[in-house]
Amino acid sequence: MAKVLLGFMGAGKSTIARGLDPNYLDMDAMIEKRLGMSIAEFFSENGEEAFRQIESEVLAELLQRDRVVSTGGGVVISQRNRDLLKTNTDNIYLKSDFETLYQRIAADKDNQRPLFLNNSKEELAAIFQERQAWYEEVASRVLDVTKLSPDEIIEELR
Ligand code: S3P
Repeated sequence: MAKVLLGFMGAGKSTIARGLDPNYLDMDAMIEKRLGMSIAEFFSENGEEAFRQIESEVLAELLQRDRVVSTGGGVVISQRNRDLLKTNTDNIYLKSDFETLYQRIAADKDNQRPLFLNNSKEELAAIFQERQAWYEEVASRVLDVTKLSPDEIIEELR
């Protein structure tokens, strides 16, 4: 069974996945490999809809693997993906508050997320709010990571 890490951008999904298993599978990295370009480039050339289509295909493949999986923050948007996720029983939602996440996203110059670049802070906060129920809907476990260090989170999830 896959151990799937879910959460908004900046929640630390990849960092925690790497700590749990150095051979973890990173959904965004797999998508970028398939696209042959960065997600930011693909978004600006082809739009979000096209990205979501490929994201869905990659999710279905990853759920077949018996590994730790780090997802992209928008994987829960579609009903199709939520239904796919519900077939897996180890889905961990790394929950945090918007302000903490926003500061991390804004500071992350190596990974300039298109949703950060294309939306105001207020718009991003609305996207965050809208997604809460979706993360909770598919999660088998919710962990509030706001006040935890990466080591503490990894320890908790081992
Ligand atoms: C997205 C989150 C990103 C990436 C893409 C869209 C989103 O992944 O998949 O930019 O819609 O929240 P991270 O959560 O790993 O930053």
